[in-house]
Order: sequence, then structure tokens, then C-alpha cells
Amino acid sequence: MTPAPANAALRGHIVTFRGNPFLMPPEDALLDEPDGLVLVQDGRITHAGAHDETIAHLPPGMQVTDYRGCLISAGFVDTHVHYPQLPMIAAYGEQLLEWLERYTFPTERHFADGAYAATIARKFLRGLLTCGTTTAAVYCTVHPQSVDAFFTESARLGTLMIAGKVLMDRNAPDYLRDTAQQGYDESLRLIERWHGRDRQHYAVTPRFAPTSTPEQLELAGALLQRDDTLFMQTHLAENRAEVAWVSELFPDSRSYLDVYDRAGLVRPRSVMGHGIYVDEHDLCRCHESGCALAHCPTSNLFLGSGLFRLHDVTDPRRPVRTGLGSDVGAGTSLSHLQTMNEAYKVARLGGNRLHPVQAFWLATAGGAHALHLDDRIGMVAAGMDADLCILDPRATPIQTLRAEMCESTADLLFTLMMLGDDRSIRATYAGGRLVHDRDSETAI
Ligand code: GUN
Ligand code: ZN
Repeated sequence: MTPAPANAALRGHIVTFRGNPFLMPPEDALLDEPDGLVLVQDGRITHAGAHDETIAHLPPGMQVTDYRGCLISAGFVDTHVHYPQLPMIAAYGEQLLEWLERYTFPTERHFADGAYAATIARKFLRGLLTCGTTTAAVYCTVHPQSVDAFFTESARLGTLMIAGKVLMDRNAPDYLRDTAQQGYDESLRLIERWHGRDRQHYAVTPRFAPTSTPEQLELAGALLQRDDTLFMQTHLAENRAEVAWVSELFPDSRSYLDVYDRAGLVRPRSVMGHGIYVDEHDLCRCHESGCALAHCPTSNLFLGSGLFRLHDVTDPRRPVRTGLGSDVGAGTSLSHLQTMNEAYKVARLGGNRLHPVQAFWLATAGGAHALHLDDRIGMVAAGMDADLCILDPRATPIQTLRAEMCESTADLLFTLMMLGDDRSIRATYAGGRLVHDRDSETAI
């Protein structure tokens, strides 16, 4: 029941990229057009450029939607998030392993009920679109019905999503455990049902090394062997106690990453959440394999997990594909503006500065690159899917005051990432279709 791809014409200040701002001066990497026009036909961008030139390509009879005063950006890409954890966001007082036991597992239990899963999937996807996020790599629960509920709603909205059933056959409560074979069989059925259907993509999803036996990790690798286009997502080296536990459980592995590597899980389209406690050898392996790390700053600060070394991870001598993850419910906001805000502060604590162009790149084109989807999403350019977010830099009186002081587009982007949230998202488009309009009551 996917909607027909739409046509649109949007006027505003286009912000996108000439290149990767971690590999070239950020100021040079920014490509912006203060009075721009974006034309969309059948869900794809056909033209994006200066209004006065692009207007010549406007199809007869098409209305231009006027977003002057706002920025037109690619929709945000969230490379790591758990939809079932939305009801337990902001759970008090624990670090990772205790937080999982005390809050996460009991919450995920409810997703055995497909109707409940559908309700939360709807609220979650609505929440993402309200924050300008149009693509996400999403963990469901161990229950296959939680995956059906999620993809059903994403297909209805026409959003490009990646998701999968969590695999978990040990060190978890009975009510959340599968077996290695059951996890394989259920994942295979879901892949056949959803992978490549419209804009939906499947990710094989072992939760993390402590909750999967070596047999289950092997079978996850066997699933990936069947199809190069499948994604893989898991957690990696997020917390010191977790890392110590993994070295006890897998004494023969050189590192936490090596546990996954031995099972064939380190490959293009693999996304590892966190990766805080990784060494140079691991980073080189990520670089050469094409697997990605998801930087989840609100989660890492909330749980007290540690500080991600973004500037080391993206070192131009061996850059690792990197995106931003909200990691809700350990993360405290679905808004990538808030995620960028916290990423800036994490970088500061590591003695670095996260330039606003770098932050917006991570939230859009960098995330798309991390997921190997950069030929389709992440930029405002002809040929790209029309997944767009319209940013209002004057959403509040204080932001209006601050915006008047801005002398560059980069500075305006900085005010958005430090001060902005869902109020800053004027509208969101998925496949050229308006899926969120801040100023309209009509639900889509
Ligand atoms: N590690 C294993 N499971 C999880 C999870 O649900 N959230 C986070 N942040 N880390 C994890
Ligand atoms: Zn996570």
C-alpha cells in the first residue's frame, strides 16, 4: 500500500555538499544556493539550483511551495535506533548492562503483541518525520510481528527504512530468546517478505555479542552470504563492562570487532552502533571492509558509556564510514539536531571541534554513505530520491535573535544544531510527498 511517488516544486535556501568535509576544508565542502528551487518528478529530484535558472524547467501548471527563509536539506539519516524502546526513553540511573535488564528487556516483551507493535511503530515513524529524519536503521524486537508492524507502516508512508528482527539466543530472559535456528528461519521469512519491497530494506540484527552464541553469529553470517544487498546491524564496544564480558565469552578473539569478523559480519552495509572502545587495528579493519560506525552521542552521555573519538575514526588516512545514531531509547531524542548538538560537545571534551558542515554531513550525506545508500539519498541533487527536510532557523524568538547575527550559512547551520529541535522542522518530504507539515493540523 505504498503511495504513488509524487511531484513537487520547493523554493528556499538549498544546503547540500560538494564533497566530504572530513576530507576537505568544511567551508569548501558546503554547496548552498540562497535562493534555490528543487523540482521533483515521480519521487526523484530532477533539478536543484538557482531559482531564476531552474524555473525554466518548472512543468506547466505546477505550484511552487514557498519556503523562503528556510533551508532545504536532504532528510536526516539515523544510522542506529530502536523503535520498541520509544516508550522507555529517559529511564533513570543505570549503565548499559543494568539498563538492559531493568528497563529494556521488560519493555521489549510487549512486542509479542502485534497490535501494540503497530501502535508504537506508528508513533515512532511519526516522531522521526516530525524531526526531519527520513531514513533510519532500526532495531525491532525478537518477535517477527514487530518487524511486520514496522515495515507495514513505513511502506504506508513511503519512507526508505532499514530494519530487522533482533537475534538473541542467550543471556536474555526466556521470554525474549530465540534459538540459532529459529532466528535464522524467522529472519529468512522476513527477508523474503520485505527486503527490496518498495523502499524497505532488511538488516540481519544480532543484538550484540553477549546475547548470541557463536552458532547464532555464524548463522547470521550465513544469511548475509545469501544476498550482498542485505544490511547487518549490531552493537560494538559501547561500555567498559560490556567489553570485558565479551572478552570472557570469546577468549579466542583478538578484539570485540574480531568476534563479528570471524562470523562474516564485518562487510559493506554492516553498521556497528557505538564503537567507543576500539583500537587502531579495528579501525583499519572497518576502513578496509566498508563497514560503518554509528556515533550515538546522546546515548553515550545519557548512559555514561564514554566518548566516541570521531576525529580519530574519520582520520583521512583511513577514514571509517560514520553516521549519527539517535539510539533511542538509550538516546534521549529522535531529533538529529539534538544529536548534532551532543556530538559537538563530545568532540569538545575530546579536545576537538565538530564543524557545522561536518555535523550536517554526518546527519545526511555521511549517514547515507555509511549505509552505502549515497547514490539514492543524503544530497539535494538531480537524480536523488526526494527525501527532504525544510529547516526553519527562526523557530523561536531566541533563534530569531541569534539568526540575525549570522554572517555565513555555516554559522546559521551551527545555530540550528545547537538550538534546534523538532520545532525547527518546518516540513518533511519522503519520495517527494509531504509527510510532515509543522504548521498544519492534517495528519498524513
Ligand atoms: N547493547 C545491546 N543492546 C543494546 C540496546 O538496546 N541499546 C544500547 N544502547 N546498547 C545495547
Ligand atoms: Zn542501540
